[in-house]
Amino acid sequence: MWGGRFSERPDELMQAINVSIGFDRRLAAQDILGSKAHAAMLARQGMISRDDEARIQEGLGRIAAEIESGEFPFREAFEDIHMNVEARLTELIGPAAGRLHTARSRNDQVALDLRLWVRDACDRTAAQLRTLQITLLAQAEAHSDALMPGFTHLQPAQPVTFGHHMMAYVEMFGRDAARFADARARMNESPLGSAALAGTAFPIDRQATAKALGFERPMANSLDGVSDRDFALEALSAASICMIHLSRIAEEIVLWTTPQFGFVALSDAFTTGSSIMPQKRNPDAAELVRGKTGRVLGALTSLAVTMKGLPLAYGKDMQEDKEPVFDAFDALELSLKAMAGMVADMKPDTERMAAAAGAGFSTATDLADWLVRKLDLPFREAHHVAGAAVKRAEGLGLGLDELPIEEFQRLEPRITADVYQVLTAKASAASRSSYGGTAPEQVQARIAQWKERLR
Ligand code: ARG
Repeated sequence: MWGGRFSERPDELMQAINVSIGFDRRLAAQDILGSKAHAAMLARQGMISRDDEARIQEGLGRIAAEIESGEFPFREAFEDIHMNVEARLTELIGPAAGRLHTARSRNDQVALDLRLWVRDACDRTAAQLRTLQITLLAQAEAHSDALMPGFTHLQPAQPVTFGHHMMAYVEMFGRDAARFADARARMNESPLGSAALAGTAFPIDRQATAKALGFERPMANSLDGVSDRDFALEALSAASICMIHLSRIAEEIVLWTTPQFGFVALSDAFTTGSSIMPQKRNPDAAELVRGKTGRVLGALTSLAVTMKGLPLAYGKDMQEDKEPVFDAFDALELSLKAMAGMVADMKPDTERMAAAAGAGFSTATDLADWLVRKLDLPFREAHHVAGAAVKRAEGLGLGLDELPIEEFQRLEPRITADVYQVLTAKASAASRSSYGGTAPEQVQARIAQWKERLR
C-alpha cells in the first residue's frame, strides 16, 4: 500500500507485530457497510463516476457474500481488514477499486468500524438484558410471597420474600440497560470523513454518510474523530458493571444450590457431575459467569491503559483496542444468556427457605419495633430488651416465637401475648410495606410496574 515510498519489504517481526487481520476480521461487515456509504457519497459529490461507484458497490456486495459463505480469503499479507477488503476488491473489479479510498484514511475507517461494532453489541446486550429481566420477573411473580431469610454480612438479618430478592436484580439489570442506552446515544456520531486526522480537501458530505450509517450526526472535530475511543470505554464500563451484577447473582446461585443452603435446585441442564464423586451436582455455569467477570474488568482496564497518555490523534497503540472489546462482549453475551437460562431453570425450595427465614432470631427487629410502637420505648432501649430476649431464647434452645411470655415479661413487664403476632417470619415480611419494602403487596406492585416497562 505504501510501495511508492518504500523499496524493501518489512522484517518478519515487523510483520508479526503489525498484523491485525487475525482479530479485526470481525469488523468485516462494518467495514463493508462503511465503504458502501462512502462510495455512494463520493459518487453523489462527483468525486468518482457513477460507473465506478456501481463497480465498487457490486464488488463490495460480492465480498460481503464471500464473507458470509466463509469463502473470503483473509490474508495476513494485507495486514488488516481494511486492506484485505480493498485488495480483494481490486482483484474483483480492477483499478476502480483504487478510487474508494479517496478522501478517507484507515484512521477514520477503523474508528468507524469499531464504533459500528460496539453499537451493535450494545443493541444485542440490551435485548439480552431484557430477556434476563423478564425471566427474573417470572420467578418473582411465581414466588412474590415465598419467605426466605434476608442477609447482611451473610448472616440472617430479616425475613424477605424470594420475589423481592429477584426484583432487586431486575432493578440492577434495568440500570445496566439504561447505561448501555446512554452509551449508545453518546456514541452515535460518525467519525467517517475525519480522514487521517485533519479532515479533507475533497468536497465530502459527512452529514450524508452519517445518516446512511444510522448516526445522529458527524463528529464535530476530526482529531477527536480518529482518536476517540470513549465509546468503547463507556461500553466496557457498562459491561463491567453488568458483569459485576451477574457475578453477584451467580454467587448466590452457587450458595443457594449447596446442600447446606438448599434454597434452590438447578436441573441437569445447568449443572455438571463429577468424574470421581458420584453425589456431586456442580453449578459450573454460575461459577463461569462469576469467573468471566475478571475478563471483562480486565478488558476495561486494558483499553483504559492503552488510551491513557496517548497524544492526539491516531496512534498504532489503538490497534490494541479491539481484542478486549470483542472478548468482553463475547463473555458478557454468553453470561447473560447462561444466566437467563439458569434463572428460568431454578426451582426454589419454598418450604426450606421459609423455615430458614424464621431461624436465626430473624424477627428480633420486629420485637424491638413492637416495643417502640406498643410501649413507646425509645428504639435504643427496645433494641436492648430484644437483644436480651434473643440471648435468653438462645440459652433455652428456643426460637423467639417459642419463648414463654413470662420470659419476655421478666425483661419488660408490660409485654403482652400480643407480641407473638409479630414474631413469625410471615408477619415480619408482611409488615414491611413501606415503598420498595419486602411486603408481598409491595413486591407485586413493583412486578406490575416492571411488566409494563418491559412490554
Ligand atoms: N489496523 C489499524 C488499527 O486497527 C488500522 C488503522 C491503521 N492506521 C494507520 N495509520 N496505520 O488501528
